[in-house]
Amino acid sequence: MNDFLELCGRRQSCRDFNGQPVEHEKLVKCAEAGRLTQSACNGQPWSFVIVESPEVVAEVAKCGQQMGINGFLDKAGAFIIVLEEHAVLMPALRRVLDSQYFAKGDLGAAAAHICLEAESLGLASCNIGLYDREKLCELLHIPIEKQFAAYIALGYATDAAVRPKIRKSFDQVTRFV
Ligand SMILES: Cc1cc2nc3c(=O)[nH]c(=O)nc-3n(C[C@H](O)[C@H](O)[C@H](O)COP(=O)(O)O)c2cc1C
Repeated sequence: MNDFLELCGRRQSCRDFNGQPVEHEKLVKCAEAGRLTQSACNGQPWSFVIVESPEVVAEVAKCGQQMGINGFLDKAGAFIIVLEEHAVLMPALRRVLDSQYFAKGDLGAAAAHICLEAESLGLASCNIGLYDREKLCELLHIPIEKQFAAYIALGYATDAAVRPKIRKSFDQVTRFV
């Protein structure tokens, strides 16, 4: 796919993964898209845990099924967990801002890059907001004090049809001056 806007239009949250595993090479490319993301002062406040081993994938899926929702994760083929790391800001900024001041935005951008790269590779994705953080730390050997930025399920969709996007109108969210 050549057109970036078309890619943005095709990316959608998948809730009907078909259980097929995701190729290792595609996961490398998704993580590489995250690694290449822009960040404040090039602080790169991220690391990526890529879950591909089927036994661990099954356990990680359970961690995303809080409060009885997200049963569809049982059929996801892989996960990428985005962790927040320390950002090194330039000295002038360090004097007035907390090192993590820009990190949330940087990490959101990295998560978006991962999902868009997944889409470009023919994969489906879904960000998940609620998960058992403690269990994930135990399963993936992540230090318990680590901040999580994103939990992204990846796989192949049973139905690849693109749904109409439900969004505020262009005029509602934009203003040219
Ligand atoms: C941080 C975050 C958490 C989300 N959590 C869930 C979730 O737990 N379950 C789910 O089905 N979708 C979840 N979504 C997907 C959103 O519902 C979805 O992005 C939004 O409705 C727009 O639809 P689209 O992604 O198909 O364009 C989450 C998305 C984000 C960015």
